[in-house]
Amino acid sequence: MLTVAVLISGTGSNLRALLDAASHPDFPARVVVVGADREAAGFAHAETFGIPTFLVPWSHFDSREEWGAELAAQLRVWTPDLVVLSGLMRLLPADVVHEWAPNLINTHPAYLPEFPGAHGVRDALAAGVAETGASVIVVDDGVDTGPILARERVPVLPGDTEHTLHERIKPVERRLLIDVVRRVATGELDLAAAAAVPPEPTR
Ligand code: GAR
Repeated sequence: MLTVAVLISGTGSNLRALLDAASHPDFPARVVVVGADREAAGFAHAETFGIPTFLVPWSHFDSREEWGAELAAQLRVWTPDLVVLSGLMRLLPADVVHEWAPNLINTHPAYLPEFPGAHGVRDALAAGVAETGASVIVVDDGVDTGPILARERVPVLPGDTEHTLHERIKPVERRLLIDVVRRVATGELDLAAAAAVPPEPTR
């Protein structure tokens, strides 16, 4: 059984979907802990499922490195096989990435390498593209530059706002995330092998 730690910053709707999937007896992974950089609303989902949580408040640390060191220390307590960034809106310091990668994956609301960064949905809308997407990647030292494990196109519709577009992307993101976690757990997807493939050039 693959053990998974999930890191969030916000509402945790993708976390919720993963918890729902993992509660099924046939699913080959279990979420063992949920962490966050702030008092995230998504902690409520962990509580619903009886999953332990930890908080490493960004605002309590003087540097990204100190925050990351505490986050890594909290993760180590749970010795997860896989760490999922599911809406964690902070960049991890390089030593934390190096400690966990390639067993460190991130979901992103765009068709990477298009529209990386904190505003993937807003940036796609601003660019006026007809379609954007959702991606799951291995985390590397860059901002959403790691090897792509899964991605799928999502149309941008006339009149879309950042909210309506994001709400259309999220169900796709959830499906991709759950499928990637399942495939990692069954051995169908080898993260070390996937991480060895050079990333696509960014636009
Ligand atoms: C998700 O769309 C996730 O991909 C995005 O934040 C949202 C979190 O939603 N993350 C990023 O944009 C990271 N660059 P949730 O808290 O409802 O799961």
